Amino acid sequence: MSVLSIIGALCSLYSIFFIIRFIYRHWFRTPFSWETYRGEWAVVTGASYGIGAAYAVELAKKGLNVILLARSVDKLQHVAQQVESKGAKSLVISFDFASASTEDWRRLENQLNSLTVSVLVNNVGVNVSLPTAFLEMEEEKMDQILRVNIVATQKMTRIVVPKMVERRKGIVLFLSSGGGVLSPAPYLSCYSGSKAYENALATALAGELESSGIIVQSITPFFVTSEMSKIRQSSLAVPSAERFARDSLQSVGYEVCSNPYWFHECISIVLSYLPLKLQIRYVAKLHRGLREKVLRKSVHKKE
Ligand SMILES: NC(=O)c1ccc[n+]([C@@H]2O[C@H](COP(=O)([O-])OP(=O)(O)OC[C@H]3O[C@@H](n4cnc5c(N)ncnc54)[C@H](OP(=O)(O)O)[C@@H]3O)[C@@H](O)[C@H]2O)c1
Ligand SMILES: *[C@@H]1O[C@H](CO)[C@@H](O)[C@H](O)[C@H]1NC(C)=O
Repeated sequence: MSVLSIIGALCSLYSIFFIIRFIYRHWFRTPFSWETYRGEWAVVTGASYGIGAAYAVELAKKGLNVILLARSVDKLQHVAQQVESKGAKSLVISFDFASASTEDWRRLENQLNSLTVSVLVNNVGVNVSLPTAFLEMEEEKMDQILRVNIVATQKMTRIVVPKMVERRKGIVLFLSSGGGVLSPAPYLSCYSGSKAYENALATALAGELESSGIIVQSITPFFVTSEMSKIRQSSLAVPSAERFARDSLQSVGYEVCSNPYWFHECISIVLSYLPLKLQIRYVAKLHRGLREKVLRKSVHKKE
């Protein structure tokens, strides 16, 4: 056998292994068992609509009670009804992560510590409403993104995790993003930077908390239907929030950085083979185009 044919055989073997592993991960492996979590509390931030609401309902289906945090009380109450229709308890807490005072945080901490919280879904997130150059972003908007996506997420984690460590049991999920972690995002610098921060925080914590029996996972999706993505109709590339949350809860405890929805993982595999410079140029052009299109439309509307 020539050296070339050995290399060829090894490459084919590797490809076959890669494909089988992919299929196994997404369709055949045993889903995470939520049995021992039944009757305990999960906290979901940003739970009034979108991905957070979907997580809340899916957790209720697994038998967990859910604490729902966001600003819009009426929408939270609607989600609470859905949670209760699955036979679970719910607790609605109206909370603004962008403007909470030290006193608000203290009150929240007391409220959360009076319950047995064993799951935290750090889902709340804010994005820019239009791709915007870093130098043109309003300082106030940047502060809001950092306060909600980074500072609030960090505070929530520090409130909830100590009791998990005491009980040697818990799950903390971080809703990071493919944009920023798996692909570059020119014109979304601050948002994607905040998501990369969450990803780094999550992987560091995964290493620190493993010996305490706590599972920490960073989730790095591409588009999911929601208000934020402005995509209403699900498709192969864009799962519904419900489908996404379901896949995510099945994959708890496996990959530390996870793309639970299979097509998102395909996207990330393809991207990992493309040169970064090309990706940066492509996304920059795409986002400039998107910005111009939206601005043109809004001028038309005004006329
Ligand atoms: N959708 C996607 O394609 C996608 C892709 C990758 C990552 N992600 C990440 O997934 C997470 C959820 O995204 P989504 O698409 O579901 O977002 P969304 O539709 O914009 O929902 C955001 C949630 O956060 C709450 N929220 C926003 N600002 C808040 C504040 N200051 N205080 C308290 N709650 C606040 C909102 O409720 P109120 O308005 O009632 O407060 C809502 O419940 C985010 O972290 C996002 O970065 C999403
Ligand atoms: C964040 O907002 C920008 C601008 O509106 C948009 O292009 C991008 O798709 C949004 N990101 C997500 C994950 O929804």
